[in-house]
Amino acid sequence: MNKNLITVIIVIVSVVLLSLSVVQFYWVKNAITVERTNFENKVNDAVSNVIIRLEKIETFSNLQKTMNSQTRVTSFFNAMDSINRDLYDEMLAVKSPEDIEKLIRKSFMATEFFSEIARKDRPFEIEKTLNKLLIDSLLSDELRMKGIVTQFEYGVYSSEKNRMIIEKTGQYQAQLLKKGFVFTLYPNEFLANPNYLMIYFPFEIRLLLDEMSSIIIVSLLLIIILMLLFVYVIRIIAWQKKLSEMKNDFINNMTHEIKTPISTISLACEALSDHSVKRNEALSENYIKVINDENKRLADITEKILQAATFEQGELILKKEIFNIEEVIDNVINNIGIQVEVKDGKIIRDFRASNSTIIADKMHLTNVISNLVDNANKYSPRKPVITISTENFSEGIKISVEDNGIGINKENQKKIFDKLYRVPTGNIHDVKGFGLGLSYVKAIIEKHNGKITVESDLKKGSTFRVYLPFSN
Ligand SMILES: Nc1ncnc2c1ncn2[C@@H]1O[C@H](COP(=O)(O)OP(=O)(O)OP(=O)(O)O)[C@@H](O)[C@H]1O
Ligand SMILES: [Mg+2]
Repeated sequence: MNKNLITVIIVIVSVVLLSLSVVQFYWVKNAITVERTNFENKVNDAVSNVIIRLEKIETFSNLQKTMNSQTRVTSFFNAMDSINRDLYDEMLAVKSPEDIEKLIRKSFMATEFFSEIARKDRPFEIEKTLNKLLIDSLLSDELRMKGIVTQFEYGVYSSEKNRMIIEKTGQYQAQLLKKGFVFTLYPNEFLANPNYLMIYFPFEIRLLLDEMSSIIIVSLLLIIILMLLFVYVIRIIAWQKKLSEMKNDFINNMTHEIKTPISTISLACEALSDHSVKRNEALSENYIKVINDENKRLADITEKILQAATFEQGELILKKEIFNIEEVIDNVINNIGIQVEVKDGKIIRDFRASNSTIIADKMHLTNVISNLVDNANKYSPRKPVITISTENFSEGIKISVEDNGIGINKENQKKIFDKLYRVPTGNIHDVKGFGLGLSYVKAIIEKHNGKITVESDLKKGSTFRVYLPFSN
């Protein structure tokens, strides 16, 4: 995919995600506002009902106060008279024991009612009419009916006295005055200095959040999932891009690696067909050697690529035999030694293992050691000093290959064992390779139940350590 296109897509998706988050945020905010308005309406309704009920009680009280005693006595007796008459009529109509019981109950209630009226003869005062428990029970009653069940604080504020005249607990006076719901008590009376009923909910926010929690959690979750998926997709795209770059590099390298021996061979063949060369035995022998060497190089390259393909299909079968791994290392040193000496370098062997006999696949392990030493040489541009050491550990043998080359940074140390991965060097490709060696090494070692580690400092050198069990 085009790099610009990917950038455009990433920008668009980021903007969309961001807008989505903003929309979601406003949506939740609106929902909270609606919920709050709803709550306010319920509180308004409930408290208005309470005020109406309080007003009725006050009217009744006022009535008693303003009635002069004469009219009161008259109406009192009138009422008593009428009730007594009703009771008398009912007494005449009694037919069953249940009727008698009903009659007794009614007459008892009538007596209660009259004695109550007769007792009430005190002047009206708001502090006395309004009693704390009454307001409290009326408020909780009405609020509960509206579905609001949470702690509340209330108070009655007198603007005449400029203070709270009734308080539930007195704990939240400041909040009550600042953030409480305020209602005029007895709004129908045109008082110069009205009294106010104030109510405050200490846990209002928690109540709203509780109601909204599912919406908030779901929105957050959705956005988080979307973002994670987005990041994941971007990473996959980046990885795919990297992979395609690596494959391109690989193909370029391979073509180059194969083209060189092919052209050398064809040149040598051309020379051999020349009569003057044919007659010169030494010269033709030399050309034949060149053809042979280049042919071997081609075979090696093909082998390497074929091996990689074999791993891909998971078809690796080990042919195990008993052998001495130190002998294998010596063979490798013999083969690569010349290349190292050409660069004015040296290979130091430091064999300390007391037991170096293992049961493993000799051919593959030779390739493993050879890959490691080859890398140590390839990636040490000046005078390579390569130390190969062996050492026993409890269940096997440890082989270390140390060099004083260019080293590998931490980030790349994690990737060099991936297939086709080569540490990027910008545009300088002075060291040839396919990025297949270490992935092969790792696969072979793991197939033997061993492990490989790398320790490296940029510009100082690297040490690869292979842990191989004696047998598995
Ligand atoms: N001893 C080392 N010092 C520094 N860098 C190294 C060393 N060994 C490996 N690397 C880095 O790790 C990369 C992968 O190594 P690997 O052997 O898999 O591939 P290669 O050497 O590039 O190609 P080939 O398939 O021919 O071996 C190399 O390209 C190189 O950047
Ligand atoms: Mg290599």
